[in-house]
Amino acid sequence: MNFQLTEEQEMLRKMVRDFAKKEVEPTAAERDEEERFDRVIFDKMAALGLTGIPWPEEYGGIAADYVSYVIAVEELSKVCASTGVTLSAHLSLASWPIYKYGNEELKKNFLTRLATGEALGAYALSEPGAGSDVAAMNTTAKADGEHYVLNGNKVWITNGGVADLYIVFAKTDTDAKHKGISAFVIEKGTKGFTFGKKEKKLGIRSSPTTELIFENCRVPKRNMLGEEGDGFKIAMTTLDGGRNGIAAQALGIAQGALDAAVKYAKEREQFGKPIAHNQGISFKLADMATEIEAARLLTYQAAWLESAGQPYGKASAMSKLFAGDVAMRTTVEAVQVFGGYGYTKDYPVERYMRDAKITQIYEGTNEIQRLVIGRMLTKS
Ligand code: CAA
Ligand code: FAD
Repeated sequence: MNFQLTEEQEMLRKMVRDFAKKEVEPTAAERDEEERFDRVIFDKMAALGLTGIPWPEEYGGIAADYVSYVIAVEELSKVCASTGVTLSAHLSLASWPIYKYGNEELKKNFLTRLATGEALGAYALSEPGAGSDVAAMNTTAKADGEHYVLNGNKVWITNGGVADLYIVFAKTDTDAKHKGISAFVIEKGTKGFTFGKKEKKLGIRSSPTTELIFENCRVPKRNMLGEEGDGFKIAMTTLDGGRNGIAAQALGIAQGALDAAVKYAKEREQFGKPIAHNQGISFKLADMATEIEAARLLTYQAAWLESAGQPYGKASAMSKLFAGDVAMRTTVEAVQVFGGYGYTKDYPVERYMRDAKITQIYEGTNEIQRLVIGRMLTKS
């Protein structure tokens, strides 16, 4: 067993860490306060090749592996979890299904634009009445000549409004439950496709979360991924990998909070000595560091399995479940280490704590991760 990162992975980590420090961290608090998405940051990530990390060069990618991808999301999330999820949704949720299920024409047209960062991607599965229960979705797609006509609403869509390409799931057969769902690539600006409410959120406030509205929206048949009825499988297999991107986001948030807490504990003096010299504080830091390391191992392992072409769905559900809980526990403890100052916006730990919560909710709540893991353990 080899736990050593390759030279390429180490180089990518250093590049993303430097980029995050210089270009992302300085405005993270301000963007959070203003709920402002910054496309320039995305463009700069594209210039570094981050928007196409795992895709072949022929489709505009840099042909690296999924471990490199999770390292990038981790490093970005260490300073700004919103930027971390922008990349994660773009790459594992919007680009992956085209890479995996798109024909050559779809890959050339859409994957290349996503990989080079010319286009930003989003993934639209959830609906007001269909969050955990995906198969209950109501959006419909009716065949009409060379088009499908879509009607319905999607909610909570990350990168919604600012993205150029959307993977949208809709029912082509309303009687067939999950087997009646199909997947489409839809471009922003398509007639009948508009944006509704933009959510006001507790955390990841510079990542826009927006409603999508489809009213007699005509989508060319050639924009379908796979075949009619493949949508549920496409959605689930996309989430198998996507969940590890959220594990990486959670890992980054937790590491960022720990780094801040260690620095503060060494500087802050009470009772004539740094608070770090109290076992009550240093044991907290030790527990945080140990849990983060365990979350990192699970996350890198799931990414390694995907790169090696081995099954990774269970590993990914486990990494997301564990890392999300670690991020929540770590950030709550980090605020505690900072005392009253941690509760204010003078330090970043309150933002980390607000950002951590979403990692237990999206891409399947942690209850759903347990359901997925439990079913895999018990299926015969
Ligand atoms: N891979 C391949 N096939 C799968 C699969 C997988 N991972 N999971 C299920 N299937 C197949 C099953 O084998 C079954 O196949 P058959 O039809 O041949 O029997 C079929 O799909 C139906 O499976 P289930 O009976 O398990 O389906 P279910 O209705 O009970 O739902 C679920 C399963 C796991 C709960 C699913 O609905 C789910 O994942 N819910 C959570 C939704 C979610 O994660 N949403 C995230 C939205 S994106 C997001 O949030 C973005 C962001 O963070 C930025
Ligand atoms: P519900 O499904 O109503 O669940 C409510 C509670 O019941 C949860 O605690 C849940 O765990 C529990 N529960 C439900 N079913 C079970 C069960 N069978 N067993 C045990 N407990 C259960 N969706 C997209 O498609 N694309 C996106 O880009 C996207 N981005 C998002 C960004 C943000 C900021 C947020 C908040 C959400 C986003 N989502 C996105 C939606 C997200 O995936 C859903 O919110 C999530 O899957 C949960 O669905 P729900 O909110 O409807 O909760």
